[in-house]
Amino acid sequence: MATYRIRHCEQLSGEVSIHTAKNAVLPLLCAALLTREPITIERVPMLTDVETLLEILSECGVNISRNGDELTLWSDEPQSPTSENLLARMRASVLVMGPLLARTGYARVALPGGCAIGQRPIDLHLKGMQALGAEVHLTPGSVTLQGTLHGGNVYLDFPSVGATENILLAAVLAKGSTRIENAAKEPEIIDLCAFLNDMGAKISGGGTGTIFVEGRESLHGCTYRPIPDRIEAGTILCASAMTEGSVLLRGARPDHMRALLFKLGETGVTLRESPAGLRLTGRASQPIQVRTLAYPGFPTDMQAPMMALSLCLRGTSVFLETIFENRFMHAREMVRLGANIRIEDRIALVNGGHALAGTTVSSTDLRGGAAMMLSGLVAEGETVLLDPAGHIARGYENLPGMLRSLGADVTVEEIPGEEIHG
Ligand code: EPZ
Repeated sequence: MATYRIRHCEQLSGEVSIHTAKNAVLPLLCAALLTREPITIERVPMLTDVETLLEILSECGVNISRNGDELTLWSDEPQSPTSENLLARMRASVLVMGPLLARTGYARVALPGGCAIGQRPIDLHLKGMQALGAEVHLTPGSVTLQGTLHGGNVYLDFPSVGATENILLAAVLAKGSTRIENAAKEPEIIDLCAFLNDMGAKISGGGTGTIFVEGRESLHGCTYRPIPDRIEAGTILCASAMTEGSVLLRGARPDHMRALLFKLGETGVTLRESPAGLRLTGRASQPIQVRTLAYPGFPTDMQAPMMALSLCLRGTSVFLETIFENRFMHAREMVRLGANIRIEDRIALVNGGHALAGTTVSSTDLRGGAAMMLSGLVAEGETVLLDPAGHIARGYENLPGMLRSLGADVTVEEIPGEEIHG
């Protein structure tokens, strides 16, 4: 769907505004299945993952009206989506399971395709639905759930973001109270809890390891503005730190980014928070050790952009990827630029500070693709980044445009017939 051309860039400077968080918006959109009253979500980012989910939701009977970047959604008679290929196309489609089951007593969803970065099982989602009283029937490629939901207690073996979201989206209409232990604590979870409470739900403990939900008979509509995208913000900060950067992020939430900001500080750049926004100045130089963890630990989605930054750090940086089993694919593309990276299972050793030479590389997944765009900024000459699957446009509204506004030379070659934001 896209080919990017990135030229070496000595300095990024200026300011950019951060878009609304993809991983906050996706579960909010699924909440439209919970009520016949309209929910309005402001500043929805233009992302292919959002468009795909909207296609799935309209197959589920959700009505959608757009007013610029403001979406209003409501569902009179929701039902399970039928087109398997749509469901298999993205991970977040699994989040229609909980609200459909809660609203209609039935849900049939295709097992979401694993993706490049890992198997992506949904056993914890299903464990949660069973704790709320659902009968679960697995068939090849899909899962069917049915039953009238009642409150229940569930312990998540891993603080899964998606499983926590699915259980929340079901428990809000279950009869009785639910407790989720070892729940995910991500900012996107707190946002979903706040949004559902605005719809009349009764949730407490969002952002802590234990969340309590008092089920309600029904929920009503609301208008909501979701949080900014901490991963987009972090990606721009990494790009700035790879050059002689002086970049101001408007609308970011530094309180959602503590682990990343501390790690960036260890590279030797300066970070300042002010009413105007979050500013990074200086060029990173010191090698780092990164261990990805569930929030509030270092976010796995920032591992690839941070590895791009480590190419500029003289010495050996170490990355331990504890969340996904196959999230180093971008490393082999960086090696094509001349990077010195050694992978041992879930550990990557990056010997940085050496010259890199532009060549043709590929986007392996969403965050890996973004990392390769950043890597092109520090490679000599021109780097051609092939992104036939359109990974980057799935999760970044306009990464090339944001980098260009800061002085980078990044162009997009569109393939006729495919809309690209950039
Ligand atoms: C969400 O994915 C995000 N996606 C991911 O962002 C993010 O990397 C991830 O959380 C971790 O923060 C969205 O929010 C749409 P998990 P999710 O359930 O919910 C295992 C991006 O780049 N697991 O927390 O799928 C799973 O295999 C994307 O924007 C089970 O074993 O993540 C993985 O190893 C990539 N069983 C780990 O937990 C389950 O039932 C984390 O998964 C569910 C998950």
